[in-house]
Amino acid sequence: MQGREALPDEGDGADGGRPDGQSRHVPVMLDRCLDMLAPALTEPGAVVVDCTLGLGGHSEALLTRFPGVRLVALDRDKEALRLSGERLAPYAERASLVHAVYDELPEVLDRLDIDRVQGVLFDLGVSSMQLDEADRGFAYAQDAPLDMRMDQTTGMSAAEVLNTYPPGELVRILRAYGEEKQAKRIVSAVVRERDKEPFTNSARLVELIRDALPQAAKRTGGNPAKRTFQALRIEVNGELSVLERAIPAAVKALAVGGRIAVLSYHSLEDRLVKQVFAAGAATTAPPGLPVVPERYQPRLKLLTRGAELPTEEEVAENRRAAPARLRGAQRIREDSAE
Ligand SMILES: C[S@@+](CC[C@H](N)C(=O)[O-])C[C@H]1O[C@@H](n2cnc3c(N)ncnc32)[C@H](O)[C@@H]1O
Repeated sequence: MQGREALPDEGDGADGGRPDGQSRHVPVMLDRCLDMLAPALTEPGAVVVDCTLGLGGHSEALLTRFPGVRLVALDRDKEALRLSGERLAPYAERASLVHAVYDELPEVLDRLDIDRVQGVLFDLGVSSMQLDEADRGFAYAQDAPLDMRMDQTTGMSAAEVLNTYPPGELVRILRAYGEEKQAKRIVSAVVRERDKEPFTNSARLVELIRDALPQAAKRTGGNPAKRTFQALRIEVNGELSVLERAIPAAVKALAVGGRIAVLSYHSLEDRLVKQVFAAGAATTAPPGLPVVPERYQPRLKLLTRGAELPTEEEVAENRRAAPARLRGAQRIREDSAE
């Protein structure tokens, strides 16, 4: 890891998007992501997968910089697909936009009759659009229904999680996904309040957290509701379990020479990516072998030393970039069983 360790979800809260919506069109660490993938995307017909299409900023840049590539882009948010579909209409011949959760990548590629891909990009987390649309419920600074589902057609909302999960489970979620030290205190207050009346809106939860926390805990780490909101969002969308399946699946889909770049926005995501890449870049040989046979050789070569951070200039221009950490890897060998 280079530089500082960012706070969980720093800059990715309700105030992460500018009110005028300008941040909507600023893809994070764009040139660095493209440069990292570039050596794998020079051949005509190379396939690049954008697993997190969002508003299509990275995808559009991939299509313009690499005129020979075919793009497959996934998003679980139908509104994101609609908006980026309009943006990418001029490239429709070379782009397939698919409504899918990114751990469904193998099935999506099967359906499109694509065997292997040359590039994969993940730009994790919520989009500025999701943050800016108050009624999606991601924002702690605006009162809104407590929803937080990236795909609003399926699954439990944040309000349902808050109103129905056993207290112990809520404490676990706040600790694990929000790194919230005051989880017990917050959950006791939630349980007391939900017994009187179920939660529906964000403002009541924000106020409750403010009241429940001791003064000292409120002095650090920005908005005291930030960690609880992050934890609920990760639970509602199953973010870490999906990512845990998706990164290995994406590595497996890479052709030899293919490259993967992942932008994370909090330490839990980044840790997971780091572990998968590190495992792929290590030999699986039993210790003590004088010569390491081919089948035990690493499948990946790391393209970043630790995680790369955005420049100060980028962060000054686009606050949403502040917590970003970029990791990349190149596939250098087939799996032994393949
Ligand atoms: C940070 S935004 C991507 C922004 C995009 N790179 C751009 O330049 O506009 C992340 C997007 O990934 C989507 N997303 C998050 N988790 C997902 C998942 N598990 N499967 C598919 N899409 C997901 C979100 O709906 C959101 O639109």
